[in-house]
Amino acid sequence: MTDRTDTAAVNGATGAPLWLLAELTYRCPLQCAYCSNPLDFAAVQEELTTAEWIEVLRQARAMGAVQMGFSGGEPLVRHDLEELVAEARRLGFYTNLITSGLGLDEARIEALREAGLDHIQISLQAADPDVAAAVAGSPKAHAKKLTMARAVKAAGYPMVLNVVLHRHNIDRIDEIIALCDELGADAVELANCQMYGWAHLNREGLLPSRAQLEAAEATTARWRERLAERGRDMRLLFVVPDYYGERPKACMGGWGSIFMTVAPDGAVLPCHSARMLPMTFPNVRDRGLREIWYDSEPFNRYRGDAWMQEPCRSCDERHKDVGGCRCQAYLLTGDAAATDPVCSLSPNHHLIEAARREADTATRAIEALTLRNVHESRVFCRQ
Ligand code: SF4
Ligand code: FES
Repeated sequence: MTDRTDTAAVNGATGAPLWLLAELTYRCPLQCAYCSNPLDFAAVQEELTTAEWIEVLRQARAMGAVQMGFSGGEPLVRHDLEELVAEARRLGFYTNLITSGLGLDEARIEALREAGLDHIQISLQAADPDVAAAVAGSPKAHAKKLTMARAVKAAGYPMVLNVVLHRHNIDRIDEIIALCDELGADAVELANCQMYGWAHLNREGLLPSRAQLEAAEATTARWRERLAERGRDMRLLFVVPDYYGERPKACMGGWGSIFMTVAPDGAVLPCHSARMLPMTFPNVRDRGLREIWYDSEPFNRYRGDAWMQEPCRSCDERHKDVGGCRCQAYLLTGDAAATDPVCSLSPNHHLIEAARREADTATRAIEALTLRNVHESRVFCRQ
């Protein structure tokens, strides 16, 4: 292993990872059509054991990581979740659980609270149970989620809800916010679907039109005013889809900059989507996290700006947005080093404009979405 100090000199400004996302499993009782897990999730069989995860947590904390998220798939399908939370807390992490709420009950909430879990975020699909069922592939999940959201709040946690918006639920954002208000939510992330994983596969059926998006933003703004008039403290965060920007986001704060994901089988990634890139990512079963972060080729490949192509290479904004998202660049152009086509300066921006035009006229019914499923995933495994 290369000495840490030498490596820092080689990598210039590479700092420690601050965020660790532990994707405990790709297993999930739901089948959301916008799942960000890889299309070939079924190829990942051997999940890290409890002992291996604890070693990951220890190494990440020793490197300086302070925040961590437990996600999946559905992290609650892991029966050792409470044990992992307790260890993370003992090590001094601030811990978040990102969950559908399925697999939760009062006893488990209490066990997680005793383990020291700091924060729980529950996802909702819609206000309308039929839309929720159609997009998640489960007729029963919606009611269960509402019950668990209330139980989480009753246990003393703030109620933080995440609703993924897309063309089949965004027109009913008024009802969605009203439902969150009625539930007593403290914060709601109205996150427009970003086009990775299964969402990219279903893009034509998910991307809202600009008119839908603008109407939803206006409704959210009216709700903020009404909530303020009532003195109701419910934060509404509206996240615009990348496809309607003119400049890309600085994805993950920059590749290998502050964020590290460990996948269910121990693969270490700079973001949760990178697994589909044509690169081989290192695994905690073979190498230590410190060596992976500072010295592995995949983590170093898109650090700094030497890898950039034009127009990013000579652009004044290159340190602000780091050329956008590598995964989005790859999904749209086949070249992970290309300028993110979201940028209006990209020679490939026409791809984004074409997707927006398509969204203006798309008629695909919600029933035509491909739900995440093992059968289809096995097909992608073979590709
Ligand atoms: Fe950012 Fe590259 Fe666009 Fe410049 S050309 S704004 S660096 S994505
Ligand atoms: Fe992978 Fe943006 S999601 S770099």
